[in-house]
Amino acid sequence: MTDDIAALFVENRSYPPPADFAATANAQPEIYDQDPDAFWERAGRERVTWFTPFERLSEWNPPYAKWYIGGTLNACYNCVDRHVEAGAGEKVAYYWEGEPTGDRSVFTYATLQQNVVRFANTLKRLGVRKGTPVAIYLGMVPELPIAMLACARLGAPHTVVFGGFSAESLSGRMNDMGCEVLVTQDEAWRRGRPVALKQVADEAMASAPGVHGCMVVRRTGGEVSMREGRDVFYHEASAGESDDPATCPCEPMDAEDLLFLMYTSGTTARPKGIVHTTGGYLVGTSATHHHIFDIKPDTVYWCAADIGWITGHSYIVYGPLCNQTTSVLYEGTPDQPDKDRWWEIVERYGVTVLYTAPTAIRTHMKWGPEYADRHDLSSLRLLGSVGEPINPEAWVWYRTHIGGGRTPVVDTWWQTETGMILITPLPGITTLKPGSAARPFPGVEAAVYNNEGKEVPPGAGGYLVLKRPWPAMLRGIFNDPDRYVETYWSRFPGVYFAGDGARIDADGDLWLMGRVDDVMNVSGHRISTIEVESALVDHPEVAEAAVCGRADAITGQAIVAYVTLKGGLDGSPDKLAELREHVAGKIGRIAMPANIVFTPDLPKTRSGKIMRRLLRDVADHRKLGDTTTLADPAVVQEIQARAAAGDAKEE
Ligand code: PRX
Repeated sequence: MTDDIAALFVENRSYPPPADFAATANAQPEIYDQDPDAFWERAGRERVTWFTPFERLSEWNPPYAKWYIGGTLNACYNCVDRHVEAGAGEKVAYYWEGEPTGDRSVFTYATLQQNVVRFANTLKRLGVRKGTPVAIYLGMVPELPIAMLACARLGAPHTVVFGGFSAESLSGRMNDMGCEVLVTQDEAWRRGRPVALKQVADEAMASAPGVHGCMVVRRTGGEVSMREGRDVFYHEASAGESDDPATCPCEPMDAEDLLFLMYTSGTTARPKGIVHTTGGYLVGTSATHHHIFDIKPDTVYWCAADIGWITGHSYIVYGPLCNQTTSVLYEGTPDQPDKDRWWEIVERYGVTVLYTAPTAIRTHMKWGPEYADRHDLSSLRLLGSVGEPINPEAWVWYRTHIGGGRTPVVDTWWQTETGMILITPLPGITTLKPGSAARPFPGVEAAVYNNEGKEVPPGAGGYLVLKRPWPAMLRGIFNDPDRYVETYWSRFPGVYFAGDGARIDADGDLWLMGRVDDVMNVSGHRISTIEVESALVDHPEVAEAAVCGRADAITGQAIVAYVTLKGGLDGSPDKLAELREHVAGKIGRIAMPANIVFTPDLPKTRSGKIMRRLLRDVADHRKLGDTTTLADPAVVQEIQARAAAGDAKEE
């Protein structure tokens, strides 16, 4: 992070909004003229129903913000009950598609409410009350949003752990949050095969002694072991429970009460519990969802992320339900049973808005447009992208082959920490440029700083910062105030440091250029280099490890590890496979290195610091940067030769 970021890339294509879209869009050009406070004040009144109205808009004691002060509300009431009370009980909330074909169900707002109430009543039997921390470890089954909403109804904060994480990752999160109850399922469907979630949960609970109750949702009917006095099947425990909302009223919560924690990777081995509270989060997610995805009463919206990540929390569950949206929820992978599964789903439900990640788009691109061509996708009117920089070729392919050359494509930038989209086009206003996330959402103020904390001129690159607080921003890192200050608020005084490189062009549009810290972005998921290194070094035969991301045509980045074994041993293909599995066991399969290069030594400075910059150069086949500060310059040549030999074998 010592050099200012050079911005070299120039993209000249541009796409003004279609006239008919612009004419009826929720967001009209005046939206940018509003004063930020006036914008959020109004959004706070319009988007959310308060039990007690807020007295003051916000308070900013850097680096701590509060929003909608004095207001009380309940997220579940806003997402479910109020729509039923308003007469929309028959409207579809979720069309659920299981991975095995033909496995489908429909939840209206009324049936969603019944399910949530019954779930909440059953959670009460396990001792869940206002303030009880609950962990949720489920695949994309309807019980996932239902369990989250049930927690919100009771005022019990949740942490959802993505189903691909290991037992150790799950127990680490449960212990950090102090979870007392865990909701999981027997097995999840993934790529046509069952994945044993309860078994992983058992292992996790063995080292999370605070968890005294475990609710198990039956999905596949696969064999699981149940511990007497701790584990209950949901279908059994819920049998006598009422689904009448009067039996389980929505708990009034303060706007600043904890709604959930979402753990995310940072630049150390320990994931951070990002704190999201209730009022600002709900206003922020619903306002952005309404304007950016141009949600209408008849919209059929599909965010193809997993609810286990922030995208799913904000834009599958809380934002869309708060806006009374009809959504699609899909359990599985895009190639089950064939590579046209997504397009079959779009056609079946008449999806009008699709939101996904560049990795998925590039995967479909690789498979070829013929799979999309098999289906009628003419219902689509808007496409969205999130999670990583989208290369212009993928953007144009998406618009052409999925959007029929008509739909706007909104490239939305945000983070687990920001809670809501912050930088984005507005589809009825913005002239789109492939690869640019355009400009800050109304009420949001961003800038690009150089190393010295000065705003860069148009055309120059630097670090993305946010200059004023926004409603859905993180309220801290759970149990770690120092790290909160250090990570986000110490690089440049008074502004939020996002950790992303960016460039601002002559029109004021922003171009995101990837992480500037030791965080990799693999398929839109954040993985810390140090977390993977720690997992490798945890293996008894590993002496040292250094990890970096290399460019990958599909996943954006892929993980490369450089490993030195103890006793000067050389690695073998078996050892490589064993180490990959070891990382999967420690963190989860998403963190498995794509390649491991065994090397007798790592490139270090004379003071013993590993020079990751050089390893990144090797991984990306770039000319090596300055090697003069190395203790032993020969090491890097050896690594280069070994990496090249490994690449040849991979091909
Ligand atoms: O580097 C940015 C990248 O993803 C990071 C945030 O990751 P996470 O907290 O997992 O949240 C992902 C989903 C919101 C950011 O720091 N990122 C996200 N969206 C974009 C992006 N990079 C470029 N363009 C985007 N649209």
